Amino acid sequence: MAQILGGLGTSHVPAIGKAIAMGLQAEPYWQPFFSGFPPAHRWLAKARPDVAVVFYNDHGLNFFLDKMPTFAIGAAAEYCNADEGWGLPVSQPYRGDTALSWRLIEHLVEADFDVTTCQEMLVDHAVCIPMELFWPGAHPPPVRIVPIAINTVQHPLPSARRCLALGRAVGAALAADPSDARVVVIGSGGLSHQLDGARAGFLNPDFDRLCLKALVSDPEALAAYSTADLVELAGSQGVELLSWIAMRGALGAVTPVHQVYHLPISNTAAAMMVLENRAAA
Ligand SMILES: [Fe+2]
Repeated sequence: MAQILGGLGTSHVPAIGKAIAMGLQAEPYWQPFFSGFPPAHRWLAKARPDVAVVFYNDHGLNFFLDKMPTFAIGAAAEYCNADEGWGLPVSQPYRGDTALSWRLIEHLVEADFDVTTCQEMLVDHAVCIPMELFWPGAHPPPVRIVPIAINTVQHPLPSARRCLALGRAVGAALAADPSDARVVVIGSGGLSHQLDGARAGFLNPDFDRLCLKALVSDPEALAAYSTADLVELAGSQGVELLSWIAMRGALGAVTPVHQVYHLPISNTAAAMMVLENRAAA
């Protein structure tokens, strides 16, 4: 049986990738964010996952505004990075797990999630930066990946409730999976930020802290927010929180292992969280 070891959440702003590429992790601007990762690395060294299911949002690389699936899941043998070019340079493809991807797809469609299946899929900084943050210098990282893209760009977006349900369906699929995969589930994005419009630069630490708390103990509370609420409270790009909510949905009761919250990083409230799935512990 596959085992869900825990969940990881992290921000993915491209500037983090640039900082990694330039070796700036110890600089005063970056240190408060990067200094939070060694506990995550220690947890991962103990947990020894071999698969990462990554909830993230595509930034116009695979899907643009003309064609935007609400949920899209990778079923490729490998995933190449083809990012905008100014962040983290990544040349090696990430390894996929086509068999597991298809079993998840079967389960999700059976559970009434009409996912778009992608037998070819490029990944951008929303996948590459979490990989480099959690497995620094490992090229490729020691996990096969199953990327699951959530539309956080082209309205209407899936609701927080639907994303929580998607995560729960992925959790149920993994719990029923006949493989012996050791799985971590990643939520990539957020937290509060807004890059455009009259509120450009908007951050909301109070709401971010509320979310970080609710992600541990009361994810249902987050499911109650409408998309309009989330845009207002987290910012128009802060809705990337949906990936964290999906990640949390895949887990049962959790024990928080570590958390970082620091702002601003590139006009974004940057956060990282490690949650251990109690069932696996
Ligand atoms: Fe993003």
